[in-house]
Amino acid sequence: MIDVDLDRVGIPIAWPELFARDAPTDVEIGSGKGKFLNELASARPDRNLLAVERSAKYHRLCCDRAARRGLENVRLIRTTGEDLLFRLLAEESVDTFFVLFSDPWPKKRHHKRRFFRPDNLAAMQRALAPEGRLLVKSDHDDYATVIGEVLGAASGFTAIDAEEAFADLPQTGFEQKYLVDGRTIHSFALRKQA
Ligand SMILES: C[S@@+](CC[C@H](N)C(=O)[O-])C[C@H]1O[C@@H](n2cnc3c(N)ncnc32)[C@H](O)[C@@H]1O
Repeated sequence: MIDVDLDRVGIPIAWPELFARDAPTDVEIGSGKGKFLNELASARPDRNLLAVERSAKYHRLCCDRAARRGLENVRLIRTTGEDLLFRLLAEESVDTFFVLFSDPWPKKRHHKRRFFRPDNLAAMQRALAPEGRLLVKSDHDDYATVIGEVLGAASGFTAIDAEEAFADLPQTGFEQKYLVDGRTIHSFALRKQA
């Protein structure tokens, strides 16, 4: 079942139970309409891919697209990244986190809604397997500066070459639009220290 019913899975989630197989598992937070997720899942049938999306509309669209492609290595949960990090994930269980074009919340009074905060970084560090990676992109110059600061201050990570880390990965839906608009894309890649 692509659309995960949380009443029917054990928490913290065990990948062999969720995917009915044992394979390296990557997680996308905020998958939008699912272009990146579904293209990556098609290209890498050897990997499990889980995404969380808080919008019911996008979650449904993403599920439908994965089902139409017949993808057996995709699971989707309609929830927030925070719920995933603080309630659902087992420690040291994730190979790669993708957080791509996270909402910038440009108004100052909304900054507290931004995903890149020290507590979320610490939770991702705990959930990553040793040497697991966190890959991030943003088109928003001001938020990218903040992201760089939060990532730079997070303990237990080493920065790695972002161009290399993203080299074989699909573009996201937002990324395609932003590139047409000529916006600068800021990319970040970190590896969890062993
Ligand atoms: C700007 S869109 C980017 C979508 C996709 N990653 C892309 O690049 O095309 C941000 C997405 O993240 C979702 N989102 C925002 N905050 C979230 C959170 N805390 N947890 C899960 N999803 C979130 C939004 O609903 C939206 O679909």
